[in-house]
Amino acid sequence: MKVAIIGTGYVGLVTGTCLAESGNDVTCVDNNPNKVALLHGGGIPIYEPGLAELVARNARRAARVHDRPGRRGPGRAARVHRRRHPQSDAGDADLTAVFAVADAIGAALRDAPPGPPGARVVVTKSTVPVGTNAQVAERLAAAGAPHVDVASNPEFLKEGAAIEDFMRPDRVVVGTRRPEVSEVLRELYAPFLRTERPFLVMSPESAEMTKYAANAMLATKISFINEMANLCDRLGADINDVRKGIGHDQRIGFPFLFPGPGYGGSCFPKDVEAIIAMGRRTALPLKLMQAVDAVNDAQKQVLFTKIQQHFGAALAGRTLALWGLAFKPRTDDIREAPALALIDALLGAGVRVRVHDPEAMANVRALYGDTLYYADRPYGALEGADALVVVTEWPEFRNPDFEVMKRLLTGRVVFDGRNVYEPRPMEALGFTYYGIGRGG
Ligand code: UGA
Repeated sequence: MKVAIIGTGYVGLVTGTCLAESGNDVTCVDNNPNKVALLHGGGIPIYEPGLAELVARNARRAARVHDRPGRRGPGRAARVHRRRHPQSDAGDADLTAVFAVADAIGAALRDAPPGPPGARVVVTKSTVPVGTNAQVAERLAAAGAPHVDVASNPEFLKEGAAIEDFMRPDRVVVGTRRPEVSEVLRELYAPFLRTERPFLVMSPESAEMTKYAANAMLATKISFINEMANLCDRLGADINDVRKGIGHDQRIGFPFLFPGPGYGGSCFPKDVEAIIAMGRRTALPLKLMQAVDAVNDAQKQVLFTKIQQHFGAALAGRTLALWGLAFKPRTDDIREAPALALIDALLGAGVRVRVHDPEAMANVRALYGDTLYYADRPYGALEGADALVVVTEWPEFRNPDFEVMKRLLTGRVVFDGRNVYEPRPMEALGFTYYGIGRGG
């Protein structure tokens, strides 16, 4: 198939590359000339495990991944057009870019002759409020391209595991009322559904809602376990035991019940806000979603509160080491990262901050400049620090040399925001240890 991908962010680049890998003729388009130049030069604009190799292989093997500046539009040859949604602002999703792309596609296809149903499909992979696909169809028609079908096809990939998630999806969801359109997408996804995973066809509205419901459910699980962890801290229970105690109940399960310093990233915070906004527009206050959001905001302060309680009035002038800045491991993405909330609170309290992250340092430096000390290696961040704070659970932080840590840290205090260490062994090693919900 001929596929044009509009936008080479996480979803666009991963989708385009994986579709090229499965034998399609893919053209990636971006309106950022720097990104296009970087891709042409063999680089990729984001860190995502395995992606650079896959882009290079497909671009080289059959020159199937092309990149063109956005202004030239997606081109007439493309049969399936995919679009990626930008960041939304607080509350309502910002659809400016989505509609601009719809208008551009409409203009590019203005003179295209009518084809059979499903001959030209505009696929929305963006997370967009319910009703957006219908609006996109209206805009395409208004722009003079009435013979174009629109389908919703929400993406469920996670940063850090994006290729695996795309190649082996749990399910594919397609929102369209035309069987010819769902057949086009079924054919496109067939290579990835070898493992008997379902291809679910529903209305565009249900597909749009599915994406929000999925992220809202996952965010709810995280806020739930964080609230339970905070209660454990006060009552002397250990959330890690409680997590196991509930997770073995198959109705509850284990995934996404790890407490931490709050969820971050480009999806959960904005999607929870957007679903609250959808409720507001329909006069249905979504009280649970509001609570999920409020619990998460508060959770981003939990590490700072523990630090304040430990140091008391003597916090100003201290030096703290932070391990992990990205909102999760295996990414360089710092959007809404809990580490940023902590850094702001620490700097506000007059603390000197030394940081290390395997991939996200350049992005943090772009925000904070010389206000922080950036260590090339994890141990470098510890030198002369009063305490270590683990904010993101990169694998390299899980088994450090604790003797070296003790030597470098002046204070021998560890605030473990991801529960990567065990309280008792840490205390036996001579550390003062604080986890999340580990009983005090
Ligand atoms: C999330 C969803 O997991 C994907 O299915 C979805 O496609 C994507 O949003 C999206 O809408 O584009 P992502 O934001 O990449 O993916 O990352 P997650 O792995 O979901 O983690 C989100 C945040 O939750 C991270 O800050 C992570 O540390 C936190 N988290 C996750 C926890 O605190 N505890 C957990 O048990 C799991």
